[in-house]
Amino acid sequence: MRLNVTVNGEKRQVDDVWEGESLLYVLRERMGLPGSKNACEQGECGSCTVYLDATTVCACLVAAGQAEGRDVVTVEGLGTAGDLDPVQQAFLDAGAVQCGFCTPGLVVAAHELLDRDPDPSTVDIREALAGNLCRCTGYEKIIDAVHLAASRGTSAR
Ligand code: FES
Ligand code: FES
Repeated sequence: MRLNVTVNGEKRQVDDVWEGESLLYVLRERMGLPGSKNACEQGECGSCTVYLDATTVCACLVAAGQAEGRDVVTVEGLGTAGDLDPVQQAFLDAGAVQCGFCTPGLVVAAHELLDRDPDPSTVDIREALAGNLCRCTGYEKIIDAVHLAASRGTSAR
């Protein structure tokens, strides 16, 4: 099938997509967007979290065909190397990145939280990020990063 989808504000068309392959596969392998990570492919780790329209989803659980005509934003779409999103910058500044494998999904999930709640409590943050697993940090620095981003104010997507 031919897939038409807007990714990070750009209309993209990809041919020869099997309807059953995941949005994560399309992003990483067909569109050259490796930011969303592929850790479990079972919806368990959150490393593949992206926006689909205005909602965050695990891209590994979304069939490519379900994304037809829709709007996807990946971690690459939140900021650039020279102009990081405040959430991305806060993760760096708070020391919340170790191996970094979980970071893209956590950044997108934290971004979504701060979009709807600019000043979340620690409990709110833990709840919002409960689907995103990190094997390195023990989560404290991640919580700090979200509080830091909140204190600086966040940019609208
Ligand atoms: S790779 Fe999608 S939730 Fe783990
Ligand atoms: S920084 Fe390594 S899994 Fe989170």
